[in-house]
This record gives sequence, structure tokens and C-alpha cells, in this order.
Amino acid sequence: MAVTHAARILVASNRGPVSYALDETGTLTARRGGGGLVSGLSAIGPDADAVWVCAALNDGDREAVRRTGGALDPADTGGQRVRMLDIDAQVHTDAYNGIANSVLWFVHHMLYQTPLEPVFGTEFRRQWAAYEAYNHAFAEALAQEAAQGAAVLVQDYHLALTPRMLRALRPDLRIGHFSHTPWAPPDYFRLLPDDIAAQVLGGILGADRAAFLTQRWADAFTECCHAVLGPGIPSGTRIGVHGLGADADFLRKRAHQPDVDERMGALREQVGTTPDGRPRKTIVRVDRTELSKNIVRGLLAYEELLESRPEWRERVVHVAFAYPSRQDLAVYREYTAEVQRVAQEINSRYMTPSWTPVVLHVKDDFARSLAAYRLADVALVNPIRDGMNLVAKEVPVVSDEGCALVLSREAGAYEELAGDAVAVNPYDIVGTARALHEALSMPAGERAARTEALAARATALPPGRWFLDQLAALEV
Ligand code: F6P
Repeated sequence: MAVTHAARILVASNRGPVSYALDETGTLTARRGGGGLVSGLSAIGPDADAVWVCAALNDGDREAVRRTGGALDPADTGGQRVRMLDIDAQVHTDAYNGIANSVLWFVHHMLYQTPLEPVFGTEFRRQWAAYEAYNHAFAEALAQEAAQGAAVLVQDYHLALTPRMLRALRPDLRIGHFSHTPWAPPDYFRLLPDDIAAQVLGGILGADRAAFLTQRWADAFTECCHAVLGPGIPSGTRIGVHGLGADADFLRKRAHQPDVDERMGALREQVGTTPDGRPRKTIVRVDRTELSKNIVRGLLAYEELLESRPEWRERVVHVAFAYPSRQDLAVYREYTAEVQRVAQEINSRYMTPSWTPVVLHVKDDFARSLAAYRLADVALVNPIRDGMNLVAKEVPVVSDEGCALVLSREAGAYEELAGDAVAVNPYDIVGTARALHEALSMPAGERAARTEALAARATALPPGRWFLDQLAALEV
């Protein structure tokens, strides 16, 4: 196996830290992303011999790979060495949309409507072959880039098979796998055909260490191994938990830049004041428009609040940011339309000449999200299931005057934040409406104290340490 760059630390993920847009004139524009992995990796410092292996996700990315041979220009990546893989577009679509987002995501978030779905027929098997090929392309690239004994951190459900494949190519490497999603309990995980379930688990068990965001997901993984593969973790893979926290330094600085202040002004105007001139209360949510985020039930709970507690009419606004996600998949497009339909319905039912009950924004704007975090009286985070949910951790960190958190007990963040959040069963509309009332009615002093406690727990493991801890755990 030819070793090309001999990196000491490698990260592998489907989505890389940069994406490219190609315009009609052939100009490529790089757009850098954020997130835990980007800030995590920056903690190892510019001199660490690290490379990030990711996939080309669109035509712009593919053009960038064609022009650079895959080793992206560091000027586009903030100095990070990135190798982008141009995996055949159809193979990528089948692996990413077909298997990762339509099967594994649905299993781990328990999203199937089981009388109708899933159907694991020949189309699924065809897509599974693409998923194997896609995982193998990553294993080969990592094997080429890694120095003897290097540490490789493989990310998420897109790359469940890569650790075992990489182990076969390079037994000398120290391999970690990190799941950013929940892990399904055995009864649900076993919806997958037996041989596929065994491959997913066996793929991750090719790593020296399989890590998760919470103990609950780590336990579910272990239980699935016992149920599918028999007792004991066969390969001796160690299990770890690293509860990614919010990046307080970054968020606090970013949340006080002029573009955020400007958006706060605009939001305040949209929210408006009560008939007696006081600023209205805000219930804020910020999500990708993602089935697991439970946005529609959140809107229905708000409607139930207005219905059952008419005293809140005119006095509160639900500010909902639902940013488009995975729009190649029909089920996501339909969900996006449903969110818009329900929001409109609530508005046409309750709107008055001076009050719009729901302000829905669908265009992604990070500065506006931060403005909403700062303004929020209540944050609604009610996912059906969620690996962690960083919004729940970010809001308390940047909140200006304290924000009550209504939090689903099915979010990973609940394990750490339960004590000071108002807990909800995400399916219970009436219960969620009650929780919204409780949160809106919370006295200012209590709200501020709880926000402070939430912020302390939410920042216990910042991205830099989260990343370094995983590397250190691989040394053992
Ligand atoms: O939660 C898993 C995850 O991979 C996150 O890390 C990320 O925010 C999200 O899914 C992104 O999904 P996609 O790359 O499909 O937009």
C-alpha cells in the first residue's frame, strides 16, 4: 500500500470542513463550515501532522478535486490539510441518500412508520453494495495517508464499515469510531436484515474504540452487539462516551458581533410589543428541517398553548428557524412543506392586525440564529430522538437575560441538562403545551439561575477537549 503523506492524526467524515460552489463562469467559491469537529481539530494546533478525509458532495466539490487532485488548497480550508474524495456520484447518492440517510438514520432515530416502511428488497441490496464501496474508498484513502501507528478518528453512521476495512488494510493503525447519532435499542435495530445488522456492528467493532455522545447510546450499542452477535464484545473493542459541549469562547464572541446586533433589532421589531406596550415573550427554536427534530409537533403544542391558555394570545411569538436539509429526499421536502403549512394555519387562525403568532424563517443564517438565542425567553428543543442537540447547550451560553429550556427527554443533552430544563415527552402535545406555559411563567430570577447552571454543564466538555480526549483514549 503506497503511503502518500504519512499523517499522524486522521479524521474521516462524509461532510468535510469546506464545500465549493461552481458558477457559470467556472469560478469556484469555497465556503467553510463550522461544528464540533472543525473546532475540535483546531485544538491540536497548526503543526500537528493531521489530515481530514471527506467526500465531494456536489459538482463544485468535484471540480475542486479535479483541479487539485483531491489535496485541497489550504487557503480554502483555514490551513487544515484536507483530502477530498471524488467517489462516483451515483455510488455517493446510493450510499448517502439511500443507506445512510434513509436507512441508518431512520433506524437510529426510530423514524420508520413500520406498517409501510422499511422494505428491504433488491433496491436496498443494490444501495448497500454502494455503501460498501463508499466505505471502502474511505478505508483506502486513509490507509494511503496514514503514517505507521497513526490515530484515525472515523465519524458517524456514514462510515460504519470503514474501521473494519481499514483494519484489514493497515493493522498497525489505532482506529476510533465516533457516532454522532443516537443508537437504536436492539428490538428496533433488528429491523435491519440480520446480515446487514451484523455488518454494521462488525464494521464499527473493527475499531479499537467505539465512542458515543452519551452513556445511553453506548449501552444501546453494546446491547445490539449482544443481541445480534452473541454475548461479549467479540473484538475487544473498548467503548467510550464523550459528551460534546458548546464552544463558549467562540459563541460568546460571535454572538456580540455587529451583524448579530443588527439582526436582534430586526427580530425585536418582528416580535413586537403587547397592547400595553411591553415586549412580547419569545419561544425560539432553531433546527435543520429534519424529521427527528419534531418541528410540526412543536408547532401543534404552541397552538395548543394558545387554545388552552388564551391569556398568552398577543403576548407571545413563536420564532421558528427551520433550515432546509437533505432536500434530495422526498420525505424531507414533504416535511419542510408540512412545517410551513402548519405554521401558516396557526397564523391564519390566531393572527390579529398587530400580532403574528408564528415567525418562521427557512433561510439559513447563523447570525440570526445567535440573535434569537440571545433574545429567547423560552427555547423549545423537542426532538423525537437526538444524539446530543447542541442548540440546547448553546442557548444558555449566549442568552442575554436567561432563557427557560423546554427539552425533550429523548435528546442526548437531556442526560446532562435534565435538572434545570423543563422536560417533555416529544409526542405529548398537551404536555409540551403545559411545559411551554411553565417555562413562559418562570420568574426571572429562577430563569437566570437555571440558565447559569445549564451553561456551566453545557460547556463542561468544549470541542477542543472533546477531540483531544478521544485521541488520548486511543493511546492506551
Ligand atoms: O447528527 C449527525 C450528523 O452527521 C451531524 O454531525 C450533522 O450535523 C448532521 O448529521 C448533518 O447531516 P448532513 O451532512 O446530512 O447535512
